[in-house]
Amino acid sequence: MSVTIGVPREVFPGEKRVATVPEVVEKLIKLGFAVAVESGAGDAANFGDDAYRAAGAEVVAGAANLWSRADIILKVRAPSADEVSLIKAGQTLISFIWPAQNPELMQQIAARKATVLAIDALPRMLSRAQKMDALTSMAGVAGYRAVIEAANAFGRFFNGQITAAGKIPPAKVFIAGAGVAGLAAIGTAAGLGAIVRANDTRAEVADQVVSLGGEFVKVDYEEEGGGGGGYAKVMSEGFQQAQREMYAKQAKEVDIIITTALIPGKPAPKLITADMVTSMKPGSVIVDMAAEQGGNCELTEPGQVVVKHGVTIVGYTDLVSRLAKQSSTLYASNLLRLTEELCKTKDGIINVNMDDDAIRGLTVIKDGTISWPAPPLKLPAPPAPKAAMPPPPPAHGHGAGAPASAKKVAIMFGFAAVLFGLIGYGAPSAFLAHFTVFVLACFVGYMVVWNVTPALHTPLMSVTNAISSIIAIGALVQISPPLAAGMTRPEALIQGLAGLGIALTAINMFGGFAVTQRMLAMFRK
Ligand code: NAI
Repeated sequence: MSVTIGVPREVFPGEKRVATVPEVVEKLIKLGFAVAVESGAGDAANFGDDAYRAAGAEVVAGAANLWSRADIILKVRAPSADEVSLIKAGQTLISFIWPAQNPELMQQIAARKATVLAIDALPRMLSRAQKMDALTSMAGVAGYRAVIEAANAFGRFFNGQITAAGKIPPAKVFIAGAGVAGLAAIGTAAGLGAIVRANDTRAEVADQVVSLGGEFVKVDYEEEGGGGGGYAKVMSEGFQQAQREMYAKQAKEVDIIITTALIPGKPAPKLITADMVTSMKPGSVIVDMAAEQGGNCELTEPGQVVVKHGVTIVGYTDLVSRLAKQSSTLYASNLLRLTEELCKTKDGIINVNMDDDAIRGLTVIKDGTISWPAPPLKLPAPPAPKAAMPPPPPAHGHGAGAPASAKKVAIMFGFAAVLFGLIGYGAPSAFLAHFTVFVLACFVGYMVVWNVTPALHTPLMSVTNAISSIIAIGALVQISPPLAAGMTRPEALIQGLAGLGIALTAINMFGGFAVTQRMLAMFRK
């Protein structure tokens, strides 16, 4: 009898997601599992019982019925007290659990002698784990939805327009916190045509902000914001003061603020004060994505939309559920990837392999024993910090105090000058003309390539490759018929080779330009 994966209907009030979707059911069955879905489980996400049936799942009425026949349970929210009482010994539960925030729940489930894989405990820094990273996929959906909620509450267009009735300026959006959700919000707001600015305590996200069409606004205070693992830390009082000043200035200028700032294990930092809200233009909007963790704005009311001082403050805590079909599909796909990792043999039997770093990190309870937190991962050591820079050379005096590299450059220039002098003295004039062009070409080429952003080096290589197909001209000369009397027609072999040369360089040329265009398209919005 095959192992059964059970998908119950979510019971948390307002939760519209479902842990698997019909498209994924088919793939789970191909892995060798039987799938049972509680009747109505997908209704709120627009997946009806019939769609699950058509995909090969058995639709079961009632939670108790479903939990009793499943060996593996796929869920979205951590189980409620009623659901915990339905867990059977030996059952495997895969769901969001948040073990640090729910110690009692962990004890209760452990007492049921089950195995629990908490999707929120995935070691996200493992590149292999990315396909299973539900935190990232859910944050991406929430960031997108936050912009849509802002657009809904905002009384104007996002993009600037010139109409017969007059000129409309683009909306200005400020995003506080440029993690996964913040970056999704930046991309969405920029895509709608707004002017987007963003800030984060982790300076390394600045390039990502720019690549998504935003402008990174720095806090005028030097302090590293990384708290390890790509997450933030609580900043010093000095930094917070400087950050407040910058945010106060932005609040006066922008129309929409979307806040996403979180620090693991800490309440959300208060970034938008009541004074800042008061200083915003009437009709402005704040979407506080950190509402559930206490909010980034002092005036946020979690779960509510309130209007204070003429500013609409959206504090929804169910942004992901507001795009239930999309988020369920992404979540189902994350769980499918996890199931594939658990069932590498594709025979419907799972192996919770505690020697596998990703699985070990996820497994918070193994056969009734709490195995959370997992021991820290042995990641490759970070590159050794660069040695301290030598003090700058003195402004004057190239004598004994001049650095060795400057001396080397002077010697090289002297050597090159002597070499060129000798070549100029001895070489025929026809050679000299070519040689001068060659040296200038090397110089110009070097200067051009040196100024190209490293990210564009690959398209540059591809286009230079295409241009190098200039050798086609040589082949064309060889293949052409004799131009004047007295010139012999090339031999058939030479013509054949020239023809082949043209064909091959044509592939290089047109292919090179086509590939360059495709690569450049990836950098365009
Ligand atoms: P998060 O939800 O914990 O935090 C959101 C953002 O708020 C972070 O960017 C954080 O720096 C920022 N923030 C915190 N305090 C702030 C303050 N006072 N002012 C302004 N901004 C503040 O983080 P999230 O989005 O879940 O992930 C953050 C980072 O983790 C990602 O950007 C990435 O670098 C890393 N990550 C790495 C993954 C991987 O290696 N595969 C996968 C997912 C995330």
